[in-house]
Amino acid sequence: MSLAETARSVRENAYAPYSGFKVGAALLAADGTVFGGCNVENVAYPEGTCAEAGAIAAMVAAGQTRFQAAYVVADSPLPVTPCGGCRQKLAEFAAAKDVPVTMATLAGEETTLTIAQLLPGAFDAAQMETPGA
Ligand code: THU
Repeated sequence: MSLAETARSVRENAYAPYSGFKVGAALLAADGTVFGGCNVENVAYPEGTCAEAGAIAAMVAAGQTRFQAAYVVADSPLPVTPCGGCRQKLAEFAAAKDVPVTMATLAGEETTLTIAQLLPGAFDAAQMETPGA
């Protein structure tokens, strides 16, 4: 399945009884495998997880730690954009800063931005290399 097909398909399994907002995400791993994830909410609201986090967990559990493209879809009036936390999570596993993240509506509208555009000035491992620390 393509990234879009995977994201749309896994979205149908989203557990979103509190927001009613189902989201599907898919990642194209460096080895060409596609992984999907959906949002999983909880009655203790902050314990819910986003679709992007689910897709990342599936990819890492399968032994892949880099993705070359991402796709996120929801039944929203405008293409759904990853939340701030998910932008940081995606940046951790993106193969490069110019990896495209396509955001989509169920109706078919799409917008694509790179990881760097979604999270400019991202905190990354290079900033932890503090000489003399
Ligand atoms: N949500 C995602 O899963 N991904 C996004 O990119 C935006 C928001 C989820 C979190 C929550 O379950 C619901 O959408 C409403 O915020």
